[in-house]
Amino acid sequence: MLFKAPMSEPAHPDRHRQKLYGRRKGPKQSPRQAGLRRTLLAELAFDPAKDARSQFSNDVRELWLEIGFGAGEHLAWQAEHHSDIGLIGAEPYEMGVAKLLTKLHEKPLNNVRIYEGDGRDIIAALPDASLGRFFLLFPDPWPKTRHHKRRFLQIAMLDELARVLKPGAELRFATDDKSYLPYALERLLFHPEFEWLAQGPQDWLSRPADWPPTRYETKAIKGPPAFLRFRRTDKVRP
Ligand SMILES: C[S@@+](CC[C@H](N)C(=O)[O-])C[C@H]1O[C@@H](n2cnc3c(N)ncnc32)[C@H](O)[C@@H]1O
Repeated sequence: MLFKAPMSEPAHPDRHRQKLYGRRKGPKQSPRQAGLRRTLLAELAFDPAKDARSQFSNDVRELWLEIGFGAGEHLAWQAEHHSDIGLIGAEPYEMGVAKLLTKLHEKPLNNVRIYEGDGRDIIAALPDASLGRFFLLFPDPWPKTRHHKRRFLQIAMLDELARVLKPGAELRFATDDKSYLPYALERLLFHPEFEWLAQGPQDWLSRPADWPPTRYETKAIKGPPAFLRFRRTDKVRP
């Protein structure tokens, strides 16, 4: 008897979700990296389904989130320079996670938690006003206009970020993509719950002192980067 394939597969809840930019799998990991995944990642893994605050020690006074940390140098720098902050990092690329694990093995930081997956899972699960800062550095450019809806910074995402950021919290965004900059500014400037912290016209073209360069920035940058800092306003949500 011939096997007949079903006409359509049952809908999976994630089916209509925007695609991730980039990949999960990369080159084969070294035995050391594979070992660190088994030991250190198991210790530092962030679980979006559990209370975020309880996944850090009591010394932590605030949570910050970085989505798409790449090889994790910016995340590790922030954690090292802010020992009273709990840094959550999300990155689906296994080799990126492996690189951060190596850094943390060499210089242990107990205020970092890692989610090897889509950062949107974390934002969706966080309670209101639970983050003190959010970083999105050189994210998916999606340069083709028809793919712009896949960009991370959508109005709906800004609504979600405004929900999870505390009043006064900072949103930091960097891009070297000429079309992503106006795209992001257009959305951020018109969002009632964000205000631009730029002091003058040159402000966003220079790197703030507490904003170290990322790996992408030192290796793959395509043009002068823009460093945007927005503040979550005090507006209370209805
Ligand atoms: C161009 S790289 C930049 C990496 C790093 N921020 C840097 O500047 O070196 C963009 C990164 O975002 C990650 N990424 C894309 N979509 C993501 C998502 N929804 N959640 C978490 N990471 C994501 C990709 O895996 C990739 O590592």
